[in-house]
Amino acid sequence: MTVSLLVDNIGELVTNDPAIGTGSRLGLLEDAAVVVEGHRVAWVGRRAEAPAADASVDAAGAAVVPGFVDSHSHLVFAGDRAQEFAARMEGRAYSAGGIQTTVAATRHASDDELAANLARLVAEMARQGTTTVEVKSGYGLTVADETRSLAIAAQVTSETTYLGAHVVPPEYADEPAAYVDLVTGPMLTAAAPHARWVDVFCERGAFDAEQARAVLRAGQAAGLQARIHANQLGHGPGIEVACDVGAASADHCTFATADDLANLAAAGVAATLLPGVEFSTRSPYPDARAMLAAGVTVALATDCNPGSSYTSSMPLCIALAVREMAMTPAEALWSATAGGAAALRRDDVGRLAVGAPADFMVLAAPSYVHLAYRPGVPLVGAVYRRGQRLS
Ligand code: NIG
Ligand code: FE
Repeated sequence: MTVSLLVDNIGELVTNDPAIGTGSRLGLLEDAAVVVEGHRVAWVGRRAEAPAADASVDAAGAAVVPGFVDSHSHLVFAGDRAQEFAARMEGRAYSAGGIQTTVAATRHASDDELAANLARLVAEMARQGTTTVEVKSGYGLTVADETRSLAIAAQVTSETTYLGAHVVPPEYADEPAAYVDLVTGPMLTAAAPHARWVDVFCERGAFDAEQARAVLRAGQAAGLQARIHANQLGHGPGIEVACDVGAASADHCTFATADDLANLAAAGVAATLLPGVEFSTRSPYPDARAMLAAGVTVALATDCNPGSSYTSSMPLCIALAVREMAMTPAEALWSATAGGAAALRRDDVGRLAVGAPADFMVLAAPSYVHLAYRPGVPLVGAVYRRGQRLS
């Protein structure tokens, strides 16, 4: 028998269903209630009209929002790079070269160590309201290490991404073309059964446009869908490649021209902005306002990784997006939920509608606006994923 739960006395409910409420994209409802049956949402509406349920919880006038969809993270790794961060804060620049430090540590780690570190970070994310997370490989860079990274990631999420083309590993430094052949050949064959997505770091110091196209096309031919690290450290061809291959998302987009933005909008490629990176590398933030004005779908994600952004906190990313990228609190929350879902081509998560998975959190605040208004404060209270209370 399916047990139903009434979440009652919600002061402000964000549904991301524009058909609900007064027509805003967030689908806001005051004095609301939600009924969960099993792992799905069974009813959403005014609390005065709520149907009876087997059990109930009292939100005591607090805000309830959809679980965050963190559509970009690198959580399968060993070690950390605190010293690199400290050096950066003393003026050293971020470079893709630091990735090799984590590759060496990851290759030395056991499966159990990698799985334990991954579990720790996923639990950290859950406590901060993340109910869907994408996880990339990319710190193995051998057939065996990329394959095990993805198999370990697949134990915690269906949103797994093959990033064999993160950087060229040291043993291929003199023959990058041979490494691309490996990534598009035997490594892809071994990795593909464990992955939904294929990704490439298209950047000076990593892979150029031609190599990136080859990696994404090969992944698509093997049944994976494309996403890309584009235009992070300088202007480059990554966004063009994303549009050419029909990627779901171009991520970073820190250096983008007006033409790039028009192309993203026309091609229906989401821009996933990762403000934790600019914060942690002390770099200029991407121009979110220009993207929104150009009609681009904007997602927000943590990029959680030990090098450029070692935060697992979507609330921090929302606060940075509002304060540093001039997004409104409403835009930032939408981008951290429905936007992340769009970047993963998911229409089930990132919203609270009848039939959707019951992924949501109760905030220790009367409004979602407090996520940006009270930065650094642990406002995420009870978190429910698929109708089960996580924390
Ligand atoms: O998304 N840009 C490439 N990859 C990561 C950084 C990885 C690292 O520094 O270890 C990123 O920022
Ligand atoms: Fe990344």
